[in-house]
Amino acid sequence: MKSLTDTYTLYNGVKIPCLGFGTWLAASGEEAERSVRAAIESGYRHIDTATAYGNEESVGKAIRESGIARDELFVTTKLRNPQHGYESTLAAFNDSIKWLGLDYIDLYLIHWPVPGDFHDCWEEKNAETWKAFEKLYKEGYVRSIGVSNFFPHHLDKLYKTANVGPMVNQIKLGPGLTQPETVRYCRGREMLIEAYSPMGHGSIFSSEEMKKIAEKYNRSIAQICLRYSLQMGYLPLAKSVNPDRIAANAKVFDFELSDEDVKLISETKGEWSTMRDPDFITF
Ligand SMILES: NC(=O)c1ccc[n+]([C@@H]2O[C@H](COP(=O)([O-])OP(=O)(O)OC[C@H]3O[C@@H](n4cnc5c(N)ncnc54)[C@H](OP(=O)(O)O)[C@@H]3O)[C@@H](O)[C@H]2O)c1
Repeated sequence: MKSLTDTYTLYNGVKIPCLGFGTWLAASGEEAERSVRAAIESGYRHIDTATAYGNEESVGKAIRESGIARDELFVTTKLRNPQHGYESTLAAFNDSIKWLGLDYIDLYLIHWPVPGDFHDCWEEKNAETWKAFEKLYKEGYVRSIGVSNFFPHHLDKLYKTANVGPMVNQIKLGPGLTQPETVRYCRGREMLIEAYSPMGHGSIFSSEEMKKIAEKYNRSIAQICLRYSLQMGYLPLAKSVNPDRIAANAKVFDFELSDEDVKLISETKGEWSTMRDPDFITF
């Protein structure tokens, strides 16, 4: 990958810009609008939101007012946990496109496999939800469909009834957190791996090991994390609400980490290398 507009290709042929802009905790209103505007001005062409973030209206407004042609932007949103099920998914999707003010979505994801409300029936709920995803895909309302936070055993169940396989799994990946089994499984099924919280949701900045690596390359820790993610073959999603950081985080295409440093980063341990167990979430 040589620039923000370079793309990975999903197994259905859809192209997806290789570095996404994250919006979790970008507050609805001025903050989310301003940060998405800054991201697009800095050259990002891939924006990641979710109904659960509560900011689809602001994200959509910034996208629509950006002056960039719709087909040059890649927009992802995600189904909220309480809305798993066939009819409820279709209703949730209608709300999302209304709030975003868009005619179609580039990628729609099931946000979590085992919502708190459906601990005892998640498998059936995901099968129904996926039927609705397939309908939206076949009717052209979404250009690609996928999942998030799914482990292999969640995917095994989904494949039992799916006619169209997920194109993406968006999971937490970053320094010290490589989820090898899930990554291997997804690659075996031609799914693209998106890496969320590639900077450990902000916790990585206190790592002494990462400070040393950043000094060695004369880059910021954020740039090291995002470069690492790309070299691992993931598609990183980087969030910031600070315009200078947004611009700087995109400058990761003109240096390369050595194999030795990639290994060191993969092995670093700390708060950043922890994750929620998707089988035991309460929301
Ligand atoms: N599917 C899921 O379940 C899921 C879960 C989590 C995240 N995601 C997606 O992935 C995106 C990224 O993950 P994330 O938001 O958890 O965390 P992240 O991108 O790893 O880190 C964001 C944090 O790092 C700070 N930051 C960013 N650039 C920086 C820099 N150059 N220097 C210093 N601090 C910097 C940000 O603060 P400032 O904003 O103040 O700059 C923010 O606190 C999300 O926004 C969301 O779109 C998906």
